[in-house]
Amino acid sequence: MLVRMHEILDEAYERGYGVGAFNLLSMEAVKGALRAAEALQLPIILQLAEVQLNDSPLELMIPMFLDAARRASVKVAVHYDHGLTFGNILKAIKLGCTSVMFDGASEPFEDNVRKTAEIAKIAHAFGADCEAELGTVGSEGQESLLSAGMFTDPAQALDFSERTECDFLAVAVGNVHGNYAAEPALQTDLIEQISGSVKKPLVLHGGSGISDAEFRKAISCGIAKINVCTAILNETNSRVKKLAEKKFKYSELSNVLEEAACSTIKRHMSVFSNR
Ligand code: 13P
Repeated sequence: MLVRMHEILDEAYERGYGVGAFNLLSMEAVKGALRAAEALQLPIILQLAEVQLNDSPLELMIPMFLDAARRASVKVAVHYDHGLTFGNILKAIKLGCTSVMFDGASEPFEDNVRKTAEIAKIAHAFGADCEAELGTVGSEGQESLLSAGMFTDPAQALDFSERTECDFLAVAVGNVHGNYAAEPALQTDLIEQISGSVKKPLVLHGGSGISDAEFRKAISCGIAKINVCTAILNETNSRVKKLAEKKFKYSELSNVLEEAACSTIKRHMSVFSNR
């Protein structure tokens, strides 16, 4: 069933488990994601980021996400990830996303506050939720370049959260998008401090490549939503490479795409939910 993201995340935050939010770029990946969630009988978040729209257009993907969500026997939220432009965020809301993210983390603090507050107000008026980001989440392999000054500051996070009225806050705590150069050690004390001051479900971006133990620690400190994309793409690439070693039929390719998503998502959901 299709639900607003806060319905899923408020419960996860209160009860201390995590919910997976998976970036899905194809119909096969959507089928695999729903199969994983239904097999485990766990809530799931289907999402697509603005930088992925060239491969997977919003107008094609969001109606498919919504239809899959409505047919599902588990709670499903449909989320627009890393919205960068006002126009696309509005389009995502109008298409029926149950939440949107505005990513203003690279902008000056006051600009991030002003734009996030505006988008949160619009999202709420349309019956959707709003995720925002504060601090610098690094990019692929750059975790050693991150310094304490780039992490989310707990006092600033409280000010940001109150002034923007965002529903969920994505934090920078040593996490990076893409593949990590070495297994990351998240700043779990910092997650706990941010959670203690903001008192809202926190979001961890860059979920691919983090160990099960680090995930569990982060969740116990206040992370409720964990974004995963690269792990699905890595698994898809290696399975497709293997398949391409011989002649194959389209149905085999379709099956590989679905299985790669399903197995990766199942593995992450089991860890996040402690099942
Ligand atoms: P990864 O690609 O590192 O898993 O990050 C996904 C993400 O954070 C999407 O917003």
